[in-house]
Amino acid sequence: MQRQSLGRVGIGLTFLLSVAPSAVCVSAPAVKLPMAQIVRARRAHFKELGRAMKALADQLRESHPDWSIVVRDSNRMTRLAGDLPGWFPVGSGPESGLTTRARASIWAEPTGFTHASQVLAARVRDLASAVSSRDRPLAHARAVAVGRACGSCHRQFRAHSSWW
Ligand code: HEC
Repeated sequence: MQRQSLGRVGIGLTFLLSVAPSAVCVSAPAVKLPMAQIVRARRAHFKELGRAMKALADQLRESHPDWSIVVRDSNRMTRLAGDLPGWFPVGSGPESGLTTRARASIWAEPTGFTHASQVLAARVRDLASAVSSRDRPLAHARAVAVGRACGSCHRQFRAHSSWW
């Protein structure tokens, strides 16, 4: 009996922590776990973005790309680029003590970071329109422009790392 109700409390708490990250940014002890999850999820999203970008670019280098892959990854990139600004809640930077390469300047210069996110979203949109017209050379050129938008934000807002 006792055990069962404790179990329920445990589940309830885990659920609360996993679904309500924005509600927990006030008290220090509760912050640890959700922030760790947020940063982990952010890095996983970026990995997904990197994989989509690579798979798409590999296809666009072929003379006969598999458009189903290109379309799939272009759609993925559109979704991820749109979500990106939401991956950086206050407190998820280096001050969290977590393994992250997000620079403090993301929050100190929010205008610059927002701009970099918007440039990416715009380049990804341009890419999607070339993809929808199945124009390989144009799509390729636009994928290169997307790559520049990634690099430009990284230079400004992603810290160097010697270990990964
Ligand atoms: C608006 C800024 C911004 C843009 C645009 C951006 N990134 Fe990043 N990216 C970051 C930051 C900041 C990090 C570090 C995240 C962390 O460590 O918490 C990162 C990390 C990454 C990582 C490493 C993930 C890991 O921890 O293993 C990859 C891969 C990546 N980005 C790929 C891309 C690709 C591909 C694009 C373009 C399609 C892109 N990024 C566009 C800011 C950006």
